[in-house]
Amino acid sequence: MTNESRPALDELLAQAVHAAQNSYSPYSHFRVGAALKLTNGQIVTGTNVENVSYGLTICAERSALVAAVSGFGPDIRIEAVAVANLNHAASPPCGACRQVLAEFTLPDAPVVFPAADGQRVMPFTELLPLAFDMKL
Ligand code: THU
Repeated sequence: MTNESRPALDELLAQAVHAAQNSYSPYSHFRVGAALKLTNGQIVTGTNVENVSYGLTICAERSALVAAVSGFGPDIRIEAVAVANLNHAASPPCGACRQVLAEFTLPDAPVVFPAADGQRVMPFTELLPLAFDMKL
C-alpha cells in the first residue's frame, strides 16, 4: 500500500463521517460518506443521494469521485479512500463504485471501510483485482 500514515487515514475517515451527515437517504436511512485523498494533496468528500426511482441513487463513493473530477479535472489520481456510515453497519464499497474508482485510483491506494468484522484497510487492487479495462 502507499505509505499513507494511520493518522492521515483517521483524518480521512473523520471527513467521511462528516460527509455522511449530509446524506440524502429517505428510503434506506443508510447514511454513507466517502472521502478521497488526491495525489495533489486535496481531500474531496461525497455522500449518498437517493432517488424515489431507487435505481437512480448515487453512492457516496461515486458522489465523491464526481466531485473530485469536477473540482480538480480529469488528471486526478486517488491515493487513499475512506468510507464510513452513521448506521454502525458494514459498508465496503459496492461493486459499481469499485469499478468507477478504478479509473482514477492508484492500485496500492489504501481503502478503509467498516466491514462485518470491524474496520478494515486494504489496498485497492485487493478490493477489485480484475477491474474491467478496455485495451483495444
Ligand atoms: N451506498 C453507498 O453510498 N455506498 C456503497 O458502497 C453501498 C451503498 C448507499 C446507496 C443507498 O443510498 C444506501 O447506501 C443503501 O444501499
